[in-house]
Amino acid sequence: MTDTAMARPQSMTASPSGRGALVIGASSGIGAALAGELARRGYTVALVARRGDMLSRLRDQFNQSTGDIRVRIYAHDVRDYDAVPELLEQIVSDLGGQRLEMVVYTAGIMPEGEMGAWPFEEERAMIETNTIGAIRWLGLAADILRAQGRGTLVGVSSVAGERGRRGNGVYQASKAALTTWLESLRYRLKDSGVRVTTIKPGYVATPLTTGLNLPRRMVISADDAARRIVTAAERGRAVVYVPGYWRPIMWIIRHLPAFLMVRLPL
Ligand SMILES: NC(=O)c1ccc[n+]([C@@H]2O[C@H](COP(=O)([O-])OP(=O)(O)OC[C@H]3O[C@@H](n4cnc5c(N)ncnc54)[C@H](OP(=O)(O)O)[C@@H]3O)[C@@H](O)[C@H]2O)c1
Repeated sequence: MTDTAMARPQSMTASPSGRGALVIGASSGIGAALAGELARRGYTVALVARRGDMLSRLRDQFNQSTGDIRVRIYAHDVRDYDAVPELLEQIVSDLGGQRLEMVVYTAGIMPEGEMGAWPFEEERAMIETNTIGAIRWLGLAADILRAQGRGTLVGVSSVAGERGRRGNGVYQASKAALTTWLESLRYRLKDSGVRVTTIKPGYVATPLTTGLNLPRRMVISADDAARRIVTAAERGRAVVYVPGYWRPIMWIIRHLPAFLMVRLPL
């Protein structure tokens, strides 16, 4: 079922602030928490992901808690690149009087692999979902925001993109490519009124990290991550580590020589 089909009969009432936001990858984890955070801050929010049932639950929950039709949902696979122009147009049209102020791409996958190896299909899916989907969605959204002369594009990358390590190399590469592309987009949109925010989370408790043996003291909740991400985006920050203590940690990791990297159990 497409979102548009799910949502078309409803019309969105104007939120007090008149601001619209779009979250791609919004059915669970950080994306679902971002949807709630944006709705609470007065945005009218469009949610995109594959699992329509999860999106429906979130829509009902957020619309009930705000007492308004603040959230609308669209079932979509980000790897269906050809469908994006029409769907984005539909979302903007459904926003009605609300200006699209913030577009967050947080869709991502990180398959566990078997015995430290990943089938090629899984590796391809990571690049397609984590990187090409972002280029497609944020690239098209950039045109809309540039035409209106304002707005913020947000890409959820990862600290994992900063260095090649022994682990899931294609996940790391997908995030490295995303980070570099977002940097390029920021320079391209300079003076257009459109800001580009790159988010680099560390460890966040979500379905993506369930089952991983992470240092508990360094794991934050999805709600905490969402608050930090929306605040950073509203302030127009360029590159944000979530939480901020990852900045010095990653500075050190980026500067470690290869002979040390190869010895680390990372
Ligand atoms: N959790 C962490 O510690 C952590 C750390 C650094 C970076 N990140 C990044 O944060 C982002 C969000 O991850 P999360 O931790 O919140 O994990 P999550 O709960 O698994 O959320 C991933 C989201 O991406 C969506 N998605 C995946 N494949 C999709 C596809 N083909 N089409 C449309 N949507 C798709 C999922 O929705 P559907 O399955 O319904 O499609 C889901 O809403 C990811 O980009 C991840 O790499 C997470």
